Amino acid sequence: MEKVSGKVALITGAAGGLGQALATILAAEGYQLIVTSRDATRLNDVYGSKHLQITTDCSTVDGAKHIFEVANAHNLVPTAFTHCVGNIRLGALHRMAEADFTACLAANLFSAFHTLAAFVGNLKTAKLAGSAVLVSSAAAQIGTPNHEAIAAAKGGLEGLVRGAAATYASGGIRVNAVAPGLIDTPAAASLLSSDLTRDMAARQYPIAGIGNASDVAHLMAWMLSDQAARVTGQIWSIDGGFASIRPIVK
Ligand SMILES: NC(=O)c1ccc[n+]([C@@H]2O[C@H](COP(=O)([O-])OP(=O)(O)OC[C@H]3O[C@@H](n4cnc5c(N)ncnc54)[C@H](OP(=O)(O)O)[C@@H]3O)[C@@H](O)[C@H]2O)c1
Repeated sequence: MEKVSGKVALITGAAGGLGQALATILAAEGYQLIVTSRDATRLNDVYGSKHLQITTDCSTVDGAKHIFEVANAHNLVPTAFTHCVGNIRLGALHRMAEADFTACLAANLFSAFHTLAAFVGNLKTAKLAGSAVLVSSAAAQIGTPNHEAIAAAKGGLEGLVRGAAATYASGGIRVNAVAPGLIDTPAAASLLSSDLTRDMAARQYPIAGIGNASDVAHLMAWMLSDQAARVTGQIWSIDGGFASIRPIVK
C-alpha cells in the first residue's frame, strides 16, 4: 500500500480544548487526522470512530515514537503537526513542590521536545517537507505573578522552536508557535470558575476578555498552511496585547 503523505495532520492533546478546536478546522480543510491522548476513552468520547486515534503519553521518548510507529503501520506520514499538550501549574516559586514543577516541565516542555523530535525524524526518513506549530504562553514573554514554572517550561519551548526552525529550514520543515493569553479551555477551568474570577482575569488584558480556542486554532491552522510558507522560527502572540502593550489608563 502507498504511504499517504499529502494533507495528513497530527494533533497531540487532541481531547483537550485547543486540540478539539484544531481537529474541527483541519478536518474541514481536508486533512486526514491522527489524534492522540493518554486516555483512549476520552478520545473515543470526543471523536467516536473518526480519525486515527492513538493512546500515548508523548512526554516520554517512547511515547512520542509510538505515535509514528502506529501512523507508519497505517501508511500515514503526517506532514503537519500541532502540539496541544500542556497544563497550567501556578504558584509562587518558593511554594512550588518539586513534583508539580516536574509535572509542568513534562507536560509543557518534554512533550514538545520529544514529539517534535519524532515528527522531524519521521519527515527526514520519508524525505518530506512539513510544518509544526507548538503552543507557548504569554507568561513566557512577560513576567506574570505565580507563573514561574509555566514561564520556565514555555520559555524552554520557545527556544526549542527557534533552534529547530534553524536546523530544519533548509529541509523545508517549518517550526513556529503561538503564545496565547488565558483561553477558555479545561486547562483554565479553575481560573475561570466564577463570574468574579472570570471578570478579574478578563480585565488584565489591554483588549479585555478571555481568549477562545477557536481563534487560537485558526491562527495555528494558518501557520501550518502554504500561505505561511515563509514563516518559520516565530512565536506569535494572541493575547489581547498582554505581553506587548500598555493601554491608556482611564
Ligand atoms: N488554556 C489556557 O489558558 C492556555 C493559555 C496559554 C497556553 N495554553 C496552552 O495551550 C495548550 C492546549 O491546552 P488547552 O488549553 O487546550 O488545555 P486542555 O484542554 O487541558 O488540553 C491539554 C491536553 O494536554 C494533555 N496533557 C496534560 N498533561 C499532560 C502530560 N503530562 N503528558 C501528556 N499529555 C498531557 C491532556 O491530554 P490527555 O489528558 O487527553 O492526555 C489535555 O487534554 C497547552 O500547551 C497549554 O499549556 C493554554
